[in-house]
Amino acid sequence: MQLENGKYVINGASVEDIAKEHGTPLYVYDLKIIGERVNDLKTKIGAYKNTKFMYAIKTNYNPDVVKFITSKGIGIDAVSLEEVKLAMKFGVAAEDIMYTENNMTDAEMDETEELGVLINFGSISRLKKYGQKYPGNKVSVRFNPNVGAASHATNITGGPDSKFGVSYEYLDEVLKVCEEHNLTIVGVHEHIGSGWLGLEEPLVAMDVILDIARQIPTLEFVDCGGGFGVPYKEDQEPLDIETLGQKFNEKFTAFCEEYGRELTLKFEPGRFFVAEGGHLLTEVNTLKDSPNGKIFAGTDTGMHHLVRPAMYGSYHPMRNVSNPEGATKNYDVTGNICESADFFGKDFPLNELREGDILSIDFAGAYGLCMASNYQFRPLPAEVTVDESGTVKLARRRQTFEDLYNFYE
Ligand code: LLP
Repeated sequence: MQLENGKYVINGASVEDIAKEHGTPLYVYDLKIIGERVNDLKTKIGAYKNTKFMYAIKTNYNPDVVKFITSKGIGIDAVSLEEVKLAMKFGVAAEDIMYTENNMTDAEMDETEELGVLINFGSISRLKKYGQKYPGNKVSVRFNPNVGAASHATNITGGPDSKFGVSYEYLDEVLKVCEEHNLTIVGVHEHIGSGWLGLEEPLVAMDVILDIARQIPTLEFVDCGGGFGVPYKEDQEPLDIETLGQKFNEKFTAFCEEYGRELTLKFEPGRFFVAEGGHLLTEVNTLKDSPNGKIFAGTDTGMHHLVRPAMYGSYHPMRNVSNPEGATKNYDVTGNICESADFFGKDFPLNELREGDILSIDFAGAYGLCMASNYQFRPLPAEVTVDESGTVKLARRRQTFEDLYNFYE
């Protein structure tokens, strides 16, 4: 979103006009920015020539966003059977999908198998059940490398307290189960957490998974997960993807030489692709002073549409789209949900807000609408995409009261 001649635009399209035409609250996805981030990862993190990216579809499953990303040769990382089926509806081939299971049911296992999608096993118990039913098949195994890193403690997925994956210490047992059922391990996987910005932990985790990989002669790929962080705050240092890509390349090239074969190196980012390209547009409808000098800016959206601030204390930049020249004041920006946690920012500097102004909550493309709910029986917002030439397209219509009520019939 840029300021051009005193107006905010996305690729030339007026943001105020988009809000007027499609109503608020509204998720807007800038495909140009998403395309740039895809390109960044492919060219920098993908320094090793045989790198394959799998988009973590949980991050944002708007059909137009997903199709845009997969059209650039990116596969899909799924974490539920429904995500697998959704990706297939969007035209992704079974061989371009991996399902990283976590407490999978027998029925989910059977249906995934029927669909021909590779399962990445997160427990020895499930691996055994699979081996008993489908001996002789190919599998991938998620290992917990005993390293974790993330933007928030709640987003760490590695280390002794994490529920994810099979501890690296249990490799021998994994190998035994696979031998018993004649399973071929074609992939090993680790994912240490979401939103890290440092280089140390992902490189240590890679060393651990490569140590495991050395002991498995049948591999086709090594998957080093996602988690690539983005700088939500203006003063945060962005992730050095150039250096990280070079280090991944050095380590993996050396590994492949020793292993005797060139394997595929996989990554499964979500946030990095889509966070920055997404904005939640909302109308400020109620301004309220409090005797201690606070100004509450009440909006027509809330924690039911973007839960990250309420759930993790996450920071999202915001801007007043309607009054970019206004004098700066500090606001407590709140939602319309009957919960005291329903804030997008406290004491947050914004160009003066007036009732009716459009506020943009930025970096909302990742873990935004996909984590939204119908709490307080409120419908979900619509989603639009804006392409490189500024063409705005409705990508998912707004829910209605009837949509929600129909579940009861
Ligand atoms: N692979 C696996 C197995 C994952 O569990 C995740 C995210 C990813 C890849 C993608 O991670 P990313 O590249 O997007 O960081 N709701 C939280 C984030 C939860 C992440 C869950 N797993 C948030 O809003 O910050």
